[in-house]
Amino acid sequence: MNKWYCSVCHETLTSENKPEECETCHADSRMIMDFESVPATLEQVRDMARKKLKGICAAYPRCDGNFDKICQKEAYGKPIGLGGAGQGHSFKANVESLADVKLNTSVLGDHFEPDTSCSFLGIDLDFPVMASSTAGAGKYNDAIDETMFCISVLRGSKEAGTIGLRGDTWFYTLEDHPSLKAMEDINGYGIPIFKPRAQDVLKKLIEKAENLGCKAVGIDLDGCGSTIMARYGQPVFKKNVKDIEELVNFSSLPLITKGIMIPDEAQKCSDAGAAVISISNHGGRVLDSTPGVAEMVPLIRKKLGDSAVITADGGIRTGYDVLKMLALGANAVFLGRDIIRAAVGSGALGVKLHLEHIRNTLKKAMFMTGTKNIEMADSRIIFNG
Ligand SMILES: Cc1cc2nc3c(=O)[nH]c(=O)nc-3n(C[C@H](O)[C@H](O)[C@H](O)COP(=O)(O)O)c2cc1C
Repeated sequence: MNKWYCSVCHETLTSENKPEECETCHADSRMIMDFESVPATLEQVRDMARKKLKGICAAYPRCDGNFDKICQKEAYGKPIGLGGAGQGHSFKANVESLADVKLNTSVLGDHFEPDTSCSFLGIDLDFPVMASSTAGAGKYNDAIDETMFCISVLRGSKEAGTIGLRGDTWFYTLEDHPSLKAMEDINGYGIPIFKPRAQDVLKKLIEKAENLGCKAVGIDLDGCGSTIMARYGQPVFKKNVKDIEELVNFSSLPLITKGIMIPDEAQKCSDAGAAVISISNHGGRVLDSTPGVAEMVPLIRKKLGDSAVITADGGIRTGYDVLKMLALGANAVFLGRDIIRAAVGSGALGVKLHLEHIRNTLKKAMFMTGTKNIEMADSRIIFNG
């Protein structure tokens, strides 16, 4: 008899041939591997993702939306895949704006163990890094089932000591919504972010999330330009301040407004009662030629003041990047493409390994900048010439 490993629930399965399905979590055979292949390192997870995402994403050591990368190469008329909109300027700006931020090295002082713990919307997290809301991985090379993708992200996040967000896309419906199915699987320990659908549809989705015990909900306001949603009978809309107020008042859950890129709109969302201003350009996927997110974080922090809860995402690949975003003014950050690769590569195990790696490099960055805890991550650790 051979032993097999389920990368979603970590169960050991015993059978002569590869099982069709995990008897515990019902993941299909794509998530099951022989024991020899179980990845122990992030590099192995990325190798597996590279194979599974062939032609879509090569899991490059530097994921920056450049023309030499397959996601951006010959992009004309091609589905967006993991790439950025247009010529990828916004995608590139995210990575470049973070690279432009330099950290001050601090070597004097008492020895210390960095404390990465934090609180986000009243949830205690081991570190201020969350899996971002993403959707659609199930359509890439048929490498993963969409619900198992969502479950992998939420479970891997929880196992790593944090919480996962989940996205929404054209093949998610009120009746069949992989994000909400995964929320049920994890007893609500997650945050669904919905597309800016019609208000009545959004209310039904938010109500479902609330009944499942989710910790918060959100709307990716920058998803308002999606044409594929309308093509599949699920139109999306620009939202005004009244719409946001209506959604804030509709539910007892904190509302995250994701996709904010200008201080004035951050202020309007905050005034409308949004609990979190999520600075994001959707990984450069909705409008080409925006500034990098790292450029906007200090401006929006300045506008909103110290008490606002601000998240940032876009181009964050390492713990050093995480620390930069925190020092620029974010309270927490989200990771997009890296978590997709980790989940497609090796399910919940891949997500856990990836997030643990980020936490380790965050700790190193904190140690070498003299940042003892998350509250201490501020502009003093950024080199200003
Ligand atoms: C393939 C893909 C699908 C995405 N789907 C969603 C989505 O459904 N909802 C959403 O709010 N953001 C979505 N995003 C954007 C991410 O949440 C996040 O803002 C972005 O990926 C961060 O940039 P990074 O990938 O460079 O980390 C998606 C991004 C990618 C790459």
